[in-house]
Amino acid sequence: MKFTLKVWRQKDAKSQGRFVTYKVDGISPDTSFLEMLDILNNNLIKEGREPIAFDHDCREGICGMCSLYINGRAHGPDDDITTCQLHCRMFKDGETITVEPWRSAAFPVVKDLVVDRHAFDKILQAGGFISCNGIVPDANAIPIRKLDADESMDASACIGCGACVATCKNGSAMLFVAARVSALAKLPQGRAEAARRAKAMVAKMDELGFGACSNTQACEAECPKGISISHIARLNREFLLAKIQD
Ligand code: SF4
Ligand code: FES
Repeated sequence: MKFTLKVWRQKDAKSQGRFVTYKVDGISPDTSFLEMLDILNNNLIKEGREPIAFDHDCREGICGMCSLYINGRAHGPDDDITTCQLHCRMFKDGETITVEPWRSAAFPVVKDLVVDRHAFDKILQAGGFISCNGIVPDANAIPIRKLDADESMDASACIGCGACVATCKNGSAMLFVAARVSALAKLPQGRAEAARRAKAMVAKMDELGFGACSNTQACEAECPKGISISHIARLNREFLLAKIQD
């Protein structure tokens, strides 16, 4: 297969970026999208040109690092996958593919397609944990309803990729925060601090410049892990509870 790639190049957060057009040829349909970028980068290095910076780590849908906006969709044109799980067979031979970094004020561009997602770490530091004093009881000794365990597990599938933020027209991080709040609130270990946690994480999210949720549901549609917006409803309930308790 051959492709024309329009790739966003940007020296650093302060520089102005621009699209640069590249050609790749002889790509197997079964090549992953990131491998195709590797091939392009090898060609650029051989030509003495600067390779394109992009993020990746596990390359198997686990770490959430591969944050690319491809042809106007977070993680590209396939559903329920991360960019590293996207394959060239999803595109037409000869297609022009536009590749951009996540676009969000809270995720500044570091270089080319790499963005700084430290804002997510700061939200987690504000409340994405449980507190315990002294001896931690064996988790297996605490009975948990199957339905609650399942819901917590579903919410825990969030890999912190940021596609929800990049997709949302408001740049809201509500789905990410809701997944973290839900995962802990549905378990007895996290229940005690649930309302306080929701309030602290929402306050940090607002402080860091993420937008408000206007319920467009775009986040759920593009989340590679199928995180449901029902978790946002739970976050809102916990948040209201915190307000009442104040
Ligand atoms: S909620 Fe989905 S889209 Fe958002 S960070 Fe988690 S896995 Fe990524
Ligand atoms: S590189 Fe880890 S999820 Fe894509």
